[in-house]
Amino acid sequence: MSGLVLCRLDEVVEGQARGFDPHGQGADSLFVLRHGGRVRVYRNRCPHLQVPLEYRKDRFLSADGQWVICYAHGARFRPEDGTCVHGPCRGQALQALDYQEADGWLLLPLSQFDR
Ligand code: FES
Repeated sequence: MSGLVLCRLDEVVEGQARGFDPHGQGADSLFVLRHGGRVRVYRNRCPHLQVPLEYRKDRFLSADGQWVICYAHGARFRPEDGTCVHGPCRGQALQALDYQEADGWLLLPLSQFDR
C-alpha cells in the first residue's frame, strides 16, 4: 500500500477536525474529521467561492462538532457526506478524498496527492 501518511487514525477524535498541508504550501489544503465513528477526508475548499473553510487552525466544525462550517459566509455542511444544507452553496458539496488505513495510520493515496 502506498500513500502519503497524514496521521495516526486514533488522533482523529470524534466531533473534531484537523487540517493538513501535504503539499507544504503553508496552508492546509485538506482536512480530516471523524463523525459517527467514521473518518472522512475533504478538500479544504468551499464550493461557494473556492476558499478555505476554517477561521483558524483546525477550526472546521461548529462549536457542537455536528457541522462543517465555512466561516466566510456561514455555509453549513453535513460531516458525513460534505453536502451543504445551509448557505449560499446549498445543494453543492465539499470534495471528498479517498484515503487508506494501514496499521493504524491514515494515508492519502499518491494518486490523489497532486490533484
Ligand atoms: S465562501 Fe464559503 S460560504 Fe461563501
